[in-house]
Amino acid sequence: MVPKLNAMVFDAYGTLYDVHSVIAQCNAVWTERGQAVSQLWRAKQLEWTWQRSLMGRYVDFRELTLAALRYTTEALKLPCSDDTALRLLKAYEHLEPFPEARDALEALRPVTMAILSNGSPNLLEPLVTNSGLDRWITDVISVDALRVYKPTPRVYQLAVDRLELPPEEIGFVSSNCWDACGAKAFGFHVFWINRTGAPVDALGAPPDHIMHSLAELPRLISR
Ligand code: 2OP
Repeated sequence: MVPKLNAMVFDAYGTLYDVHSVIAQCNAVWTERGQAVSQLWRAKQLEWTWQRSLMGRYVDFRELTLAALRYTTEALKLPCSDDTALRLLKAYEHLEPFPEARDALEALRPVTMAILSNGSPNLLEPLVTNSGLDRWITDVISVDALRVYKPTPRVYQLAVDRLELPPEEIGFVSSNCWDACGAKAFGFHVFWINRTGAPVDALGAPPDHIMHSLAELPRLISR
């Protein structure tokens, strides 16, 4: 059962956008190492968002993502000039939306659609514009306003405040199960896009719906 939802809020990286679409650029720099770089880069990026939030040592997602790339190339013993690092960071402004994203957003009209992301405005805003998803996404909400990362409950409140809707009228969509569980714990109605068939993280607040693709969303959302 899905309650009447007056807005759909999407996570960005991993949900609407494929963070691993940087693999091609990484392979161009380090032949055949692109996948290894992208996987460790993303893992470290997320790990540091959680650890810095717990430590109270926030830096914005752009700075953190650049530092995670530096860590990755050092850990994998790959040469990486400042110019290369900045060029790959620039790729974060040109990530590919998942293949089904545009059609899913179009099919969800006319419900209000927003992004709530760990991304800093200096990364998110060019990404949403460059990808053309601003055709559907009317609000881009960054945790940077609070200087703390997901799944801290306060960050989900940012969407309630911006959209002026109670949590129960907001659908939240994420491919990151820990983010989906954080949103559920906060009070949204939650859709987990489980593209890899992973088990649900045991975080005490399981998502309301589990699906393999954004394409499954429109049939679930009552008009
Ligand atoms: C996002 O906040 C969790 O990185 C993911 O977009």
